[in-house]
Amino acid sequence: TTPFRIAMAGLGTVGTGVIRLINENAAMIADRAGRPLEIVAVSARDRNRDRGVDLSDFAWCDDARALAGTPDADCVIELIGGSDGPALELARDSLNAGKSFVTANKAMIAHHGMELAELAENASVSLKYEAAVAGGIPVIKGLREGAAANRIDRVYGILNGTCNYILSTMEKHGSDFEEVLKKAQELGYAEADPGFDIDGVDAAHKLAILAALSFGKALDFGGVETAGIRSIMAADIGQAKALGYRIRLLGMARLNDGKLFQRVNPYLVPESHPLAHIDGSTNAVVAEGNFSGRLMFQGAGAGDGPTASAVVADLIDIARGDSGSVFAMPVQTMARADRAESGNR
Ligand code: NDP
Ligand code: HSE
Repeated sequence: TTPFRIAMAGLGTVGTGVIRLINENAAMIADRAGRPLEIVAVSARDRNRDRGVDLSDFAWCDDARALAGTPDADCVIELIGGSDGPALELARDSLNAGKSFVTANKAMIAHHGMELAELAENASVSLKYEAAVAGGIPVIKGLREGAAANRIDRVYGILNGTCNYILSTMEKHGSDFEEVLKKAQELGYAEADPGFDIDGVDAAHKLAILAALSFGKALDFGGVETAGIRSIMAADIGQAKALGYRIRLLGMARLNDGKLFQRVNPYLVPESHPLAHIDGSTNAVVAEGNFSGRLMFQGAGAGDGPTASAVVADLIDIARGDSGSVFAMPVQTMARADRAESGNR
């Protein structure tokens, strides 16, 4: 059988996780994908760094963007990060070259998802980003396919593992904010710039993606009201607890008379609510469908293994030709619905 060939940019926490997963589960993945997955080329900044994985079978590319032209690659994976720069260039070049594209990069999808989706749709290739929202939880597939028959009225949840790890660890052990943040970085949960986590921006990226998927509206990252957890002190957490609440950073999106409301903020969550008991780097996403009722997706929101699991699930889908659409409907349809709505207001 012809292998499904992959070119991969980024060999950090997630990239090395993908290599380990593909190696360890190779036979089972080949059965599920209908053919083996084979990484043929890789790129990162430092060729000489020991990453704890064997790279000797892969062609090395100094310039990530050149991976888009890898001969015979069926698909390009981007695990560099950043909304613009090399990640975006690689995405555009790969899709324009007619290659399917998989990314874990929520910043890039939140900022440029509509443009990239249009490129993918025009080229009839896949653009997949399961790992971009809530790490290992298959929430993109769950909303796009599992809940496809529903009108979603509200989507909300814990969308940032680093913040949840910080808040729940401070709550349990009275630890110091900076110390717990450092630990989250060591565990591979935090973004390269952890300001994106603690200022709520990473959760806002994910919320904008969930809202576009759930409501069929064009991505509107600029429309997310965003606050983070920087100013929360151990004393605030203790006081909330004494009153029967936990502090959690939540993202929440709903439609008010057809207008999108999106907000990321620390909330007081009553102990009776399931979200109050989501601890560590776990994420949870709740979606309310008009026929399904309340759906709750819960699992590891960050880290190498869970994120690699989502990336490789996307690869398996594409390899078996089961690629689905980028959002819940084609981007042209989303844009048309938005135009019709603004015309009606
Ligand atoms: P890391 O910082 O661990 O890895 C980034 C990788 O990108 C490194 O290997 C780095 O090379 C490489 N890189 C940086 N700049 C370039 C460039 N110009 N050309 C080629 N390679 C480059 O990040 P993560 O693995 O944690 O994250 C990757 C992506 O996954 C991000 O978009 C992140 O938001 C997303 N993500 C991360 C999760 C997590 O838990 N960590 C969870 C879900 C999504 P070098 O190693 O040589 O410096
Ligand atoms: N930095 C992100 C988080 C990684 O902590 O949730 C997963 O997207």
